[in-house]
Amino acid sequence: MLNSTKLNINLDRDGEEPIYRQLIRHIRMQIESGTLRAGMRLPASRDLAKQLNISRISVVNAYAELRAEGYLSAHAGRGTFVAGDGGSNGAEVNGSNNNSAENELPTTPDRSIREMMHMARKPGVISFAGGAPPKDFFPVTHLREAINAVMERDGAQALAYEMPEGYGPLRVAVRDYVSALGIRTHADNVLITGGTQQGIDLVIQSLLSEGDTLVTENPTYLGVIDIARTRRIQLHGISSSNEGIRLDMLENYILDHHPKLIYVMPSYQNPTGSIMPLHRRRQLLNLANDHKIPILEDAVYHEVRFEGEQQPPLKALDDTGIVIHVSGFTKILLPGMRIGYLIADSPHYERLVRVKQAADIATPGLNQRAIHWILERGVIAQYLERNNNEFKRRRDAALEAADKYFPPGSCWNVPQGGLYLWIALPKTGPTAAELYITAVQHGVAYAIGNVFYTDNCGSYRMRINYGAHPPAEIEKGFRALGRAWRELAADYAEMDKAPLL
Ligand SMILES: Cc1ncc(COP(=O)(O)O)c(C=O)c1O
Repeated sequence: MLNSTKLNINLDRDGEEPIYRQLIRHIRMQIESGTLRAGMRLPASRDLAKQLNISRISVVNAYAELRAEGYLSAHAGRGTFVAGDGGSNGAEVNGSNNNSAENELPTTPDRSIREMMHMARKPGVISFAGGAPPKDFFPVTHLREAINAVMERDGAQALAYEMPEGYGPLRVAVRDYVSALGIRTHADNVLITGGTQQGIDLVIQSLLSEGDTLVTENPTYLGVIDIARTRRIQLHGISSSNEGIRLDMLENYILDHHPKLIYVMPSYQNPTGSIMPLHRRRQLLNLANDHKIPILEDAVYHEVRFEGEQQPPLKALDDTGIVIHVSGFTKILLPGMRIGYLIADSPHYERLVRVKQAADIATPGLNQRAIHWILERGVIAQYLERNNNEFKRRRDAALEAADKYFPPGSCWNVPQGGLYLWIALPKTGPTAAELYITAVQHGVAYAIGNVFYTDNCGSYRMRINYGAHPPAEIEKGFRALGRAWRELAADYAEMDKAPLL
């Protein structure tokens, strides 16, 4: 007789969501996060109903739906199992069919992410989950003036199709803007994009084909993982240290596989907050040049710096055109205007413009002109200074609250820029995915760490956007998180004492 796996599930009995749906969500998240692995046997419906003090029909319905979705499989007389290719456990329970497509586990975590983000939006929840700067930082008054001024000045022209490369004066302003960061380029090499995200997507579309491999740091930005999955690009993540991607491992991988593109965030990496020192930036460039592999540099947090020395972007050190630089005015000004840019040399540039035109014809002209108007007013430096001072205050509050409330054995980075605290929870308690529902019930949400990994590890990691809330909320949210962890860890200790179901 096979033993079943113990399920740690915390239901919200007062919530609006029916119990069986909560159960589906919990089990699905535990499968997607890797907490429940292919081949594991679930408790019998009667036993789980008893354990959770719910009706058996709720469990039966939940199992049935999860079977229909392909997450679970039933084997007459033996019970209910997590579906999938199974590995060693799967061989035991799935017989010879364990590689069939119908048994494949979903490879993308998007469903749990969507549910996670949805829950984080519940009223009263302090959410550290997202990647946006706080709304009260947005230059609302300047934007209103900008739109009025642009409409007054350009009228219908501001509402016409724009050139795919972007609004000419904005391309010039971006050239000037990045020259202050050390990037020497021409306006002809600037392409205005729908946010940094579109810049990344255009580069991936133009340099890679289905089945090609993109090398990233591991963990990396979730948005790039999403792009790769939707475009059917293989991802290979290389571990990183607090100085960025491990160059020795990268070199070995390049020698063996010669990938087509390397994506990195040298400044204030998302999610780890790491910053790559100058000598390593140069080494990375040498490596890329030696092997003729383009680098996609994501610099969206480059200027969110409140401590430490300013490092030049890779593009500022690039004298061969091997680096394509993407960034935007989203984290430092306004995410919703969707204005980003990329800087690329020939022959990449021309191809990128064609891909951009095919994607959306052009970035909205009114938004481009409004951002151009704001840049022309020279106010961006003031916003940056104010925002970065406040981010530092919030970072300090987060470090202090983490010290006070996070369970012993947790550790985290000390970011000098960017928005994120990258936390490792002690392995003696719940994983970040297991903790999530209890945390939301306590009024706090975060990003589950393993979604940032290319290989689904990092179960005990969580990412906190400390920039999103003022210090008092940070203190309150971290206190709630600490309480949620202790509550669940105590449940775990109890369950460890209980006999297996
Ligand atoms: C590393 C990184 N790159 C790109 C983006 C997307 O930024 P944008 O809003 O400019 O498209 C984000 C957003 O969170 C990010 O964290």
